[in-house]
Amino acid sequence: MQFRTRAIHVGQEPDPVSGAIVPPIHVASTFVQPDASMTTAYDYARTGSPTRHGLESTLAALEGGARALGFASGMAATHCVTQLLSVGDHIVTGTDIYGGTWRLFNRVLPDHGITVTAVDTSDSSAVARAVTPATKLVWIESPGNPLLSITDIAACAQMAHAAGALLACDTTLATPVLTRPLEFGADIVMHSATKFIGGHSDLLGGALVTRDAELGKRLHWLQNATGGVMGPFESFLCSRGLKTLELRVLAQSATALRLAEWLAGHPAVVKVHYPGLVSHPGHALAMRQMAAGGTIVSFEVRGSVAEARRVVESTRLFQLAVSLGAVESLIEIPAVMSHGSYAPEARRAVGIADGLIRLSVGLEAFEDLRDDLASALPRS
Ligand SMILES: Cc1ncc(COP(=O)(O)O)c(C=O)c1O
Repeated sequence: MQFRTRAIHVGQEPDPVSGAIVPPIHVASTFVQPDASMTTAYDYARTGSPTRHGLESTLAALEGGARALGFASGMAATHCVTQLLSVGDHIVTGTDIYGGTWRLFNRVLPDHGITVTAVDTSDSSAVARAVTPATKLVWIESPGNPLLSITDIAACAQMAHAAGALLACDTTLATPVLTRPLEFGADIVMHSATKFIGGHSDLLGGALVTRDAELGKRLHWLQNATGGVMGPFESFLCSRGLKTLELRVLAQSATALRLAEWLAGHPAVVKVHYPGLVSHPGHALAMRQMAAGGTIVSFEVRGSVAEARRVVESTRLFQLAVSLGAVESLIEIPAVMSHGSYAPEARRAVGIADGLIRLSVGLEAFEDLRDDLASALPRS
């Protein structure tokens, strides 16, 4: 089955009892057992529930994985992966990563005896230099957030595996429509389902997908032991979101490319970061690893940080809000919003300028979004 057919049918079989074409939302927290020592497929909803399980089956089919797990948020999913590690273990990660992931890796894990080295993972040789005998996890984000850097997933998988480490890849920004990291050798894919999988700014969720069933089992054990699971209503909304994922991501990517091209030609714009542009340093790799450039564009305007703030506060269709990946277009300043949890020196050192503006391009018409930006940008 093609991707969009799997998105509609796998894990979403009609209800065998009523014939309902949409499987019911199972809200039960517990499941009646035939006898004290035997359960049905389910016993307690933290361990597993039919609605979450339906979503997990679809996600595994879309990523080409053996097992998928639904979490309460993207951060709960990321945290679960880090629980595979023990005191003394080391993580190699990127510098162009979501601010919350940066906070977990730099402010939480070191207190638990885990060390972290952040390098520009779009430079594979920097990853190779950072790996040590203690490295147990290489964590990459591609495209990176908010600079849209592209990391070579296959090269990182080889380096991680040669060192006896796992490669986990946050492809929230790409979605399985554009990149499927397991096909490039990654062990774990992570998504903030809050973004494209939900797609409508109305839920919080996360997901992990593993290539290997044993690793999936281990992560499921940790998830059940620690409890950050996705609830039934969110699972239903994610399953519904997945049915239109391909259409949304391809349409939003096409609009994002046109906006990036338009911004690159605007006199008030000094820099545009978009992997779909030939000028992007990761363009060639993006074209090998991604089906399109994605729906996120970041750019810098000429002038001061105050000028950038004026732009984000002047748009009408682009709503001033963190998050991304929904049908509504959003605009923000990562330095003070999505990446506000970075230490300012660390943020500037990795190239996230104080005045960088990030767009999440939604499903609105290109012309309306372009006109909205045109009226907010300085006219010089
Ligand atoms: C790329 C990326 N990864 C992870 C996360 C964390 O996900 P959540 O907010 O669902 O916990 C986000 C949230 O913005 C994100 O953009």
